[in-house]
Amino acid sequence: MLTVALPKGRIGKEGLELFQQILGREFHFGERKLILDVGEFRFLMVRNQDVPTYVYHQAADLGIVGLDLLEETQIDLVRLLDLGFGRCTVSIGIERDKELDLSRPSLKVATKMENITRNYFSQRAIPVEIIKLYGSIELAPLVGLADMIVDIVETGETMRQNGLRPVLSIMESTAYLVANKNSFYDKKEEILGIRSKIERALHGN
Ligand code: PRP
Repeated sequence: MLTVALPKGRIGKEGLELFQQILGREFHFGERKLILDVGEFRFLMVRNQDVPTYVYHQAADLGIVGLDLLEETQIDLVRLLDLGFGRCTVSIGIERDKELDLSRPSLKVATKMENITRNYFSQRAIPVEIIKLYGSIELAPLVGLADMIVDIVETGETMRQNGLRPVLSIMESTAYLVANKNSFYDKKEEILGIRSKIERALHGN
């Protein structure tokens, strides 16, 4: 039995479709169901941010999760495969009518991605105050809570609708297939077999 943690939302949906493809049958989570058993697989539906935790503690052997989250959490997992979907950037956003000036003193940056943000600015020796938020990040510059934000941009619509624009991309992210380290050593052949099947499914053969 292999347990796979999938995130709620679009990445999880595409992930489940990939497994449907490699198993050659359709299956779905029942309404409000968080566990789905299909043959030798058990799928878990978890919050996006919790996928690395489930896999790290081996509550799941495998998981599908964005590279942005892997970089943000720094949780030690085996990165098996870049799945190519769930593409987005982590970008600096500012008010549409302003220019980015990183030389200004006492810059404040609002973000839910504290570690990526801290690393980015400290590597460039730019002193900033990081203001940790849990959502609606785009609001912060509009009400004077921060000078800029660091957030995920997928279509750019959320920034646009809130009078912001992305000015600089910090990192690109796509969904990754990840494995728990012990699971990977214990079930290496099985896991590598799945990895190859997914790779073939992604490339349409
Ligand atoms: C992200 C991000 C933006 C939005 C960007 O949040 O924080 O608000 O998506 O997408 P767009 O460029 O297509 O408008 P998400 O929906 O992932 O939710 P979260 O706050 O729960 O992480």
